[in-house]
Amino acid sequence: MTQSIYISKAAQLITLAGHSQKPAAKEAMSDLQIIENGSVLIEDGKVTAVGPDAELRKKFSDRIGSMKVIDAAGKVVSPGLIDPHTHLVHAGTRENEYAMRLKGKSYMDIMEAGGGIHATTRATQAASHEQLFEESKKRLNKFFLHGVTTVEAKSGYGLTLEHELKQLEVAKQLHESHDIDIVSTFMGAHAVPMDEKKNPEAFVDRVIEEMIPEVASQGLAKFNDVFCERGVFTPEQSRRILEAGKKHGLIPKIHADEIEPYAGAELAAEVGAISADHLLRASDEGLKAMAEKGVMGVLLPGTAFFLMAEFARGREMIDAGVPVSLSTDANPGSSPTISLPFIMNLGCLMMGMTPEEVLTAATINAAHAIGIADEAGSLEEGKNGDVTIFDVPNYMVLSYQYGMNHVDTVIKSGKPVVVGGQLQ
Ligand code: NIG
Ligand code: FE
Repeated sequence: MTQSIYISKAAQLITLAGHSQKPAAKEAMSDLQIIENGSVLIEDGKVTAVGPDAELRKKFSDRIGSMKVIDAAGKVVSPGLIDPHTHLVHAGTRENEYAMRLKGKSYMDIMEAGGGIHATTRATQAASHEQLFEESKKRLNKFFLHGVTTVEAKSGYGLTLEHELKQLEVAKQLHESHDIDIVSTFMGAHAVPMDEKKNPEAFVDRVIEEMIPEVASQGLAKFNDVFCERGVFTPEQSRRILEAGKKHGLIPKIHADEIEPYAGAELAAEVGAISADHLLRASDEGLKAMAEKGVMGVLLPGTAFFLMAEFARGREMIDAGVPVSLSTDANPGSSPTISLPFIMNLGCLMMGMTPEEVLTAATINAAHAIGIADEAGSLEEGKNGDVTIFDVPNYMVLSYQYGMNHVDTVIKSGKPVVVGGQLQ
């Protein structure tokens, strides 16, 4: 059992209360529900009360006396950030390709020549379980240091049943042994293996007939994702893979319209995906269909930044009623970062989102994107005691000062895991 904690007197306590039933869309994305001089009680790992400090101190005076008090005066307290799209478990780095791209080679050309996802697949296949565990654990510690308390993690650098299971098992083991929470996604359809390029349908069949049933029966993933992109998986192949996942209880997600317009957003709406991710080149029709069906747009501006591509139309999406969340896309090729706060900066500067919207997008809407809004993403009674304390006087400063780490304290399920900017 964890110690009870009283987080006291935040200059701004950002609760994001009232958005747990459905994703925040349009104006609701600006509704942060801020309490000034706000405090939070965490007991047995859960939030038990939230409110103005004076009120809570009066009401719970008997209990607060025996609690660990964390003074948040002059600081901003928010729900622990949630990263709803990462490729956490992988081996190695690809700085060589970065150098090639800086000289003008494109991301897709590098992949077609056997680099890109294929390079990381070779490294990940060759890595032992322990090696992957240790590399990924380091990344999780960095996520904590940047205020993130839950991450989604995809497979997709195995591309065979054996190695896809290895990645998902590592994610499961990390979820169980590390304080951070991990929600897993199967992404066997991340690329067609180089030696099967001549017959992609056979690989699609194997994903459907061999991998999905095994992953689902072992309970290793909640979601099923596919890289729907010209030269990778067609919309028709993607539809088959996502429908097959549904039959085994895996909820569809999709890497949609990342490099080229390819009707990925439309497909997400059609198959009832919980989210469509990337959307750099999504069509107006696709976005309209997503808004109608309430499909979450997970935007990954770090990818546009790092690939030096056009950013997703975040402002237009929100105005059109698409609920939006933000993520790092943490991976060694298109977005080698774990800094969700920097992604929030990019959301404002490069996609026209407001400081309020980026906070909603990295907390409660991110929780919705991975189906955990009933337990995380806001500070309300009964929710997980997941809290990030930023050493800034108001939340505007967070999206204004960029490329800096303002995280002071992180509490995960009632346990302080970062204190004074240091991992505990
Ligand atoms: O989200 N688009 C496909 N997958 C990743 C990149 C993976 C990689 O380059 O290793 C993405 O951009
Ligand atoms: Fe991705």
